[in-house]
Amino acid sequence: MMNNNRVCKILGIKYPIVQAAMNWITNANMVAAVSNAGGMGVLGPNAGPKKDGARQINTEERIRNEIRKIKSLTDKPFAVNIILPEEGMDDNGFYVRTTLHVAFDEGVKYFVTVGNVNRQVFKEIKNQGGVIIHRELTPTTEAARIAEEAGADIIIATGYDEGGVIPQQAIGTFSIVPTIVDSVDIPVIATGGINDIRGVRAAFALGAVGVYVGTRFIVSNECPASDTTKQQIIHSKGTDLLSVSANQRSIPNEAAQEYENLYKNGLPSDLVNKKISEDGGIRTGMLEGKMDAGIVSVNTAIDLIKDVKTCEDIVKELMADFIK
Ligand SMILES: Cc1cc2nc3c(=O)[nH]c(=O)nc-3n(C[C@H](O)[C@H](O)[C@H](O)COP(=O)(O)O)c2cc1C
Repeated sequence: MMNNNRVCKILGIKYPIVQAAMNWITNANMVAAVSNAGGMGVLGPNAGPKKDGARQINTEERIRNEIRKIKSLTDKPFAVNIILPEEGMDDNGFYVRTTLHVAFDEGVKYFVTVGNVNRQVFKEIKNQGGVIIHRELTPTTEAARIAEEAGADIIIATGYDEGGVIPQQAIGTFSIVPTIVDSVDIPVIATGGINDIRGVRAAFALGAVGVYVGTRFIVSNECPASDTTKQQIIHSKGTDLLSVSANQRSIPNEAAQEYENLYKNGLPSDLVNKKISEDGGIRTGMLEGKMDAGIVSVNTAIDLIKDVKTCEDIVKELMADFIK
């Protein structure tokens, strides 16, 4: 079965599972662990230490360090996350420029692009012989076709169940995956609430040929999220989650409660998001585990996560149907 799986073929991996990019809480160890287990690890933005003793490490050096570390830990394929700048707004693109430059320089071949299609960035990746796995924040059939036409190799269809910045339309994974599958010829990977093998089977039944998994991998030994955060996820339920703004959810904690109150009392969503990010957002809440200072962003299926496991065991569990 594996040899015929289109995602495995395009990505050169053994099992059709891709670990989702998760900003501060992915790093070289986690990416390499997923890739070594036969899936594909994805390095998110802000990965890696920002200081070496007292010395500040600049963005270019930091990204290069993490990519080199991944290469030292695995010879398997891995990807780098690119948050696409709006077309024509090049001044917003410093981080993207730096990431692309370093990634090309280091021979990275696979890219998970997120946001609206940016043809210039797509072209640059293609010119380097790169492979594009594209994810719209709010998936639509029109956007999926545009991405396909612009050169995307694989589309990720994101359901409202997901962790992170959620789609603007409340369309769940069960609805969006088959809708996107029917709208493009390139393979579709499902994401949003896939935390155990039942989610994987459902995704495939809906026409997806791979899964993109974020929240489940947070509760892994290799994820740099704090132990407090991992335990909080294990002991929380989907029904506990607070809507802290129009597009972010959090496990209840002191910080999330404060943001939810502000949002409920009428502070516009973008201003609440601004405050969340000024307070440190998932860096403080998830990387540092300070429950009074930052949010804990997860999907709505967290009841299914019961223990901390290695990335390899998570891959084995979710991909059990594909292991002969
Ligand atoms: C804590 C957290 C941080 C995230 N940060 C990013 C990011 O930096 N870039 C990105 O493209 N997606 C980001 N996402 C979204 C994930 O890549 C992915 O779409 C989502 O986690 C998949 O859904 P799941 O959590 O239901 O498995 C983040 C998600 C979480 C939970």
